[in-house]
Amino acid sequence: AVSSIPADRVPDMEKRKLMNLLLLGAISLPVGGMLVPYGAFFIPAGSGNAGGGTYAKDKLGNDIKVEDWLKTHGPNDRTLAQGLKGDPTYLVVEQDKTLATYGINAVCTHLGCVVPWNSAENKFICPCHGSQYNNQGRVVRGPAPLSLALVHADVDDGKVLFVPWVETDFRTGEDPWWK
Ligand code: FES
Repeated sequence: AVSSIPADRVPDMEKRKLMNLLLLGAISLPVGGMLVPYGAFFIPAGSGNAGGGTYAKDKLGNDIKVEDWLKTHGPNDRTLAQGLKGDPTYLVVEQDKTLATYGINAVCTHLGCVVPWNSAENKFICPCHGSQYNNQGRVVRGPAPLSLALVHADVDDGKVLFVPWVETDFRTGEDPWWK
């Protein structure tokens, strides 16, 4: 064999999984007042695809209706939804109380922790190694090498539809690294 995963890396990976799980619990709790098992939230439903997009799901696995979402999420809110491929993805409410046309993938570009939103700091701050992203997910402090990935948050039949973002990253003016 040419190479293999060193044994000492395995516990690290397990630790990270656990960290993500704990973190999700910490995010979900204050929002819903109810702990939903990680699996139930993030395993893709296998249905709900529409023309290359995926309907955003709330933490109970229901499709997200824009009107209802905006009743319970005010200006500058960033709350996790289930996104493309089951990735935790922030829905953004703009200052004018409309839903932003983009969602922010919450997976840290350093080593993959789910990055929580810090409304007091107006930033996403990764608890794992301290990377920071501005309120649009653009990286402003390492070790994360890249900004958080974007998706389109379209509205289809009153529901939020995530569609892959393949165009220029409006935050950096560069091609998306996640394509
Ligand atoms: Fe986010 Fe390392 S995983 S800073």
